[in-house]
Amino acid sequence: MSAFAVIGRYPTTRPRRLRASPWLRRLVAESTVTPADLVWPLFVAEGQGEQQEIPGMGGVHRLSVDRLPAAAAEARALGIPAVALFPHVAGEFKSADGREATRPGNLICRAIEAIKAAEPDIGVIVDVALDPYTTHGHDGILHGGAILNDQSVEVLVRQALVQADAGADVVAPSDMMDGRVGAIRSALDGSGHTGVSVLSYAAKYASAFYGPFRDAVGSRAALQGDKKTYQMNPANSEEALREVAMDIDEGADMVMVKPGLPYLDVVRRVKDAFGLPTFAYHVSGEYAMLRAAGDQGWIDFDKALLEVLAGFKRAGCDGVLTYAARDAARILAA
Ligand code: PBG
Repeated sequence: MSAFAVIGRYPTTRPRRLRASPWLRRLVAESTVTPADLVWPLFVAEGQGEQQEIPGMGGVHRLSVDRLPAAAAEARALGIPAVALFPHVAGEFKSADGREATRPGNLICRAIEAIKAAEPDIGVIVDVALDPYTTHGHDGILHGGAILNDQSVEVLVRQALVQADAGADVVAPSDMMDGRVGAIRSALDGSGHTGVSVLSYAAKYASAFYGPFRDAVGSRAALQGDKKTYQMNPANSEEALREVAMDIDEGADMVMVKPGLPYLDVVRRVKDAFGLPTFAYHVSGEYAMLRAAGDQGWIDFDKALLEVLAGFKRAGCDGVLTYAARDAARILAA
């Protein structure tokens, strides 16, 4: 209430005065969205010249490695600072322990190398989690119906190391195992990768909005059960603050809240409490809803997208991962 101790009163004060023209609305805008706020997630597939459709995600494709330099060049031209990479792993490379994730030269490592060779000034962020690589679709090691925490962390550390060796700028653990940020940070430091950043998916919720993503990386059919023993309960935000605090203590450089729109209250609390670079992931299901309603003509996709992004910025996000990053950057440039 204290912020409003002194407030104008109608008719001497008329809030509409400051909304009267475009220049004035721009001048008094409290937040802005620019392409520099966006991270563009890209799905990577095996093969050559591939550009594969993803159910529910019109305008988003899985790209083979040879097509990534062109995508990264587009990001650069549009002023998008970074891409986030996710692999679609062929069935023959999946196993119960997800060991393909730790193999130097795997699909994601080749993707990192291709982008850094072609566009060294585009940031490459890579997911650390086992779900694209496991036959059961979980982010960690499954044993007797349970996800083993510390054993999973060991594999995740090796995964992060091969990604860093391949040239990743940022590793982004999305697995939600306890202690993984600290373990990854110390392994990176121990192997000369002190300059590789950790963007922690610190408050990641067990969400129904990940559906199209699981098709995109090919883990939906595989997934046994749900992820509620490691991803957070949507009911909680005190717990999100504890998760974020622990990850910062373990060495996270940046933190993320995920999904996006249903969790803007969490974004605001995290930003206010810690002040670290704070990101939100506008996830696949959120994108699918916008795209579907836009395709039907029920909403104006472009306008709704900018409004969504304004919401993220207003809530305190320093940046947003969104499949619509390219669309948004194009709209903003127009
Ligand atoms: C995997 C991962 C997921 C997403 C990002 N990394 C899915 C999941 O946890 O099941 C979801 C992203 C999206 O829906 O766009 N650890």
